[in-house]
Amino acid sequence: MIEWTKPLVYLSNNWISFLGVLGVTSAFVFWLFLLPTSLRSEHHPYLGILTFLILPGIFIGGLALIPIGMIMRKRRGGLPLEFPPLDFSNTNFRRLVVFVGAATFANVVLASTFTYQAVAFMDSAGFCGLTCHKVMKPEYTAYQGSPHARVDCVGCHIGPGANWFVKSKLSGLWQVVSVTFDLYHRPIETPIPDLRPARETCEACHWPQKYGEDRIRVNTHYADDEKNTATQNVLLVRIGKIHRAHLGTGVQIRYRADAKRENIPWVEHSENGKDIRTYTAKDAKADAYVKMDLRVMDCMDCHNRPSHTFETPELALDRRISGGLIPSSLPFARKKGLELLKASYSSNADAETKIRSAWAAAYPNAAGSAQAVVDIYNRNVFPEMNITWGTYPNHIGHNSFPGCFRCHDERPSNTGAKTITQDCNNCHSLLAMDEASPKILTDIGFEKPKTD
Ligand code: HEC
Ligand code: HEC
Ligand code: HEC
Ligand code: HEC
Ligand code: HEC
Repeated sequence: MIEWTKPLVYLSNNWISFLGVLGVTSAFVFWLFLLPTSLRSEHHPYLGILTFLILPGIFIGGLALIPIGMIMRKRRGGLPLEFPPLDFSNTNFRRLVVFVGAATFANVVLASTFTYQAVAFMDSAGFCGLTCHKVMKPEYTAYQGSPHARVDCVGCHIGPGANWFVKSKLSGLWQVVSVTFDLYHRPIETPIPDLRPARETCEACHWPQKYGEDRIRVNTHYADDEKNTATQNVLLVRIGKIHRAHLGTGVQIRYRADAKRENIPWVEHSENGKDIRTYTAKDAKADAYVKMDLRVMDCMDCHNRPSHTFETPELALDRRISGGLIPSSLPFARKKGLELLKASYSSNADAETKIRSAWAAAYPNAAGSAQAVVDIYNRNVFPEMNITWGTYPNHIGHNSFPGCFRCHDERPSNTGAKTITQDCNNCHSLLAMDEASPKILTDIGFEKPKTD
């Protein structure tokens, strides 16, 4: 051993330096174990934050503590005239070696046992939805009832591929900082800037050949009258044609829109770079829209809520009445439900108390069905995040929100040859509209599916 290490060994025998040593060894061992998983692409931003931010932080902090402890010890006691030799007869040396050895051993045991579980846990939907409980509760709640309830959040929000690794790390970092310091928007803003292009994430599971069939949709609605009169819409939705028109081979649609993508003044259609047609909204002013963001249309321009669909109060009530959770025999049940759901409350708890008592007053013999109304509220409205009815519009369709009609408003093309059509039968055949018992449904032997 060299002479100059002797005073270091002597001085390092204090609890502050030992704490530093513990920090350095723990951070290093855990870092080694996490590195391979962190470098593989599809992992969670929080894991990256742990590996590239928190652990190095602890490492550097530990490194700093070691000399701090030494300086303090020196101030306290000064140095002896001669240092003991560096072998096991020297208590200071023995303690240091034993401490470093034990800490490393313990860390290896802990890291090898827990990193796998920690990584799996961080990737799980429960972690995303519940760790930032209040912030993501609305998305998590909507997600649980969605067709994608078994797809982990990272399946859509990060997706496979290496080049999104850094991007997701950076945006994840910002997310953690903004949650910690309470800087985030309420509600969380959408569309998400820099979200990975949907075709790369969605098409990991869905591919064009697999979603090309026409489908029959049957929607049951109830009127706001005393009898809650039911009517049905039956549509044959031309899914294949719709998909091909926007994303078929060679087709590219680009558009300019405001930040929310709700106002779309300019659209361009091309096929293999040829047949370029541009469509400008009738009231659009060129000098205003050329400055707007340019975007290539993908899945999310229609399916913007594949996993976090917030209901409208009208459709939510239709669904619960249809599913029998709210008896259609209660006079004016839909009207009453709408009135209660649309009222404003200070919190979910406040809503719960008031909805229950108002419902019980109106329907003393069916007070239990108030639960379904309360559930609709809690599923869709989150006062603490400023999320209310319509905060997050859904772009599929055109009845509750502008949706397809953001572009399909009969605006003419620059060539004059076409418009972006609003012809009803282009997107669906209306097999029945607002009918009490559509003949087509009896003809095909349709049975009412159980909802919820
Ligand atoms: C099937 C794909 C999919 C899954 C699974 C998914 N999301 Fe999303 N998420 C989206 C899309 C699409 C958007 C809207 C993006 C846009 O418009 O920019 C979104 C938006 C969000 C937003 C922004 C606020 C909002 O509501 O628009 C948050 C927060 C969010 N998701 C959290 C989560 C969490 C937490 C999970 C897991 C519990 C999850 N997501 C699972 C596709 C998904
Ligand atoms: C990890 C796989 C996976 C990813 C990624 C994924 N989906 Fe899905 N998606 C599924 C599965 C599985 C179903 C079928 C669920 C069922 O039938 O209940 C589904 C169903 C759907 C449906 C039909 C929903 C319905 O009401 O029947 C749509 C639309 C859809 N996905 C769109 C998307 C979009 C858009 C994205 C990208 C933002 C996406 N999916 C990403 C697996 C995935
Ligand atoms: C122009 C709008 C639009 C775009 C772009 C779009 N879709 Fe769709 N998609 C629809 C409509 C409309 C339906 C029918 C919805 C319904 O009736 O519930 C649908 C249905 C689906 C379904 C369900 C099919 C079924 O048989 O029930 C899946 C899955 C799907 N789309 C996936 C995708 C994926 C993946 C992309 C991107 C590659 C995409 N869509 C792009 C409009 C679009
Ligand atoms: C960003 C603008 C935009 C949005 C949003 C949009 N479309 Fe389109 N759509 C277009 C353009 C552009 C065309 C092609 C017009 C052309 O041929 O030049 C088109 C064509 C179509 C066609 C084929 C029409 C024909 O004449 O053959 C159908 C069907 C269609 N869209 C359905 C939908 C549905 C359903 C939705 C909503 C779920 C939707 N579109 C949303 C821009 C849009
Ligand atoms: C650009 C395509 C497009 C055009 C044009 C269009 N629709 Fe639709 N429409 C849709 C889509 C997509 C849906 C949603 C299908 C579903 O329920 O999943 C829808 C849904 C509907 C519904 C069912 C609403 C419900 O909640 O029961 C009705 C009714 C309807 N459309 C009527 C019309 C009429 C009338 C016209 C002509 C003025 C028209 N649509 C034009 C795409 C279109």
